[in-house]
Amino acid sequence: MATQYRSEKLEKAFAALSKNYRGLDVDLYAVSREKRQTTPVMEGDFMASLSVPTHAGQRHGHPTYAVFKYNDIKAVLQDAATFTSGFIAKGLGTFFGGDGLIIIAMDGDQHRKARGLLQPVFTPQSVNPWRVEIERSIREEFIAPLVPNKRADLMDFALYFPIRVIYALIGFPQENIGDFYEYAAMGLTILAGPKNDPAEEEAARQNAVSASQGLYDAVIKLVAQRRAEGANGDDLISRLIRAEFEARRLDDMEIATFVRSLVAAGGETTTRTFSSVMTLLLQRPALLARVRDDRSLVSKLIDEAIRFEPTSTVKVRQAARDVEIGGVKIPQGALVQCVIASANRDEDVFENADEFDIDRKLKPSFTFGYGPHMCIGQFVAKLELSAAVNAVLDLFPNLRLDPDQPAPEIQGGQLRGASSIPVIWD
Ligand code: HEM
Repeated sequence: MATQYRSEKLEKAFAALSKNYRGLDVDLYAVSREKRQTTPVMEGDFMASLSVPTHAGQRHGHPTYAVFKYNDIKAVLQDAATFTSGFIAKGLGTFFGGDGLIIIAMDGDQHRKARGLLQPVFTPQSVNPWRVEIERSIREEFIAPLVPNKRADLMDFALYFPIRVIYALIGFPQENIGDFYEYAAMGLTILAGPKNDPAEEEAARQNAVSASQGLYDAVIKLVAQRRAEGANGDDLISRLIRAEFEARRLDDMEIATFVRSLVAAGGETTTRTFSSVMTLLLQRPALLARVRDDRSLVSKLIDEAIRFEPTSTVKVRQAARDVEIGGVKIPQGALVQCVIASANRDEDVFENADEFDIDRKLKPSFTFGYGPHMCIGQFVAKLELSAAVNAVLDLFPNLRLDPDQPAPEIQGGQLRGASSIPVIWD
């Protein structure tokens, strides 16, 4: 079903998003290795130095610092009272319209309460009932129809399946998936809002706000419908209607605002991660053969790919008071760019950090974040990734890179991933 549906708008929006955050083609890992050695806490705007547009830098009037070592970043992300996220509401949040209040931009008690309501819906126990449908839809709708072609660009379906999964979880009617790809394109337009040029950014804000409103209108209608029907189902909206934390429940507006943000939070992040997992695997034929023959290795493959190539390379916080990191004084109000791509390759934490080694001892990397804001959807993401990797290995016999096409390349300063993965099979 879904692979037959292609949304030009979605493909264009994804390409535009990648381009927006690509920045300079520098070797990000070499640059950050050098920073870890020379200026592990650097005064200055690291993202601007990569030519990546951001609301989390000097252009927006705040002194800016960048942090490169694993333990310093861990300390920042886990201390959400000192290093806050509220500034996101005034930056990326404004592209969502309304008061810009999305969960990633909440602090303190407000965040704790929102998380208390939402988290139970995303625990492994809650996500597991969705497993069968997630596996079925990825395998049957996206991968099985390609088998007779004996060649494909894996990115042709990688853009669609995570959106299809979110669509099913939310509980939209099956037949309107085409409309939802258009909404997802709107979601990507919102994410691509921040620009290097302020005039361009204002125009992008207008587009994004109307996209965000369109998405909200579609979701809120469904929330009202589910509530009227009694909200007994396993779908995300019904579960959120039933959720209760400290005697509080979510109203329709809160549910619609949250659900709307999932398209952006869980769509392209999973697409890009899948692209990196498959690129790293296909570049290593011996590893490919090993994983094909022993599927218990798929979760190790995914964890290592997530460490090695984080899809989003930087997370930013704002200092709520004067504070010191690694002996460097950070003034109240300063923005702190935590360079995840650097922490994940910190040689003091990961042995042979620049080697892709699925057998390494498991240690948490920061690709899903760390501390109170850590990714709420990580079990859904891992479930989808594992379903997709297993399905391509099962259904495409002797899968390998297409020798007649350009080899895939993982690129990007802020958002990383491969834009094309041409493969063949027998
Ligand atoms: C491989 C795919 C994914 C990656 C790499 C990823 C990464 C992240 C990261 C780094 C954060 C923390 C942001 C911060 O600290 O400021 C985050 C938060 C979040 N993610 Fe994901 N994510 C992925 C998939 C998903 C999926 C599938 C969903 C939902 C179905 C989701 C929903 C969320 C939400 C709601 C938050 C906000 C949590 C909060 O602020 O408390 N993500 N994600």
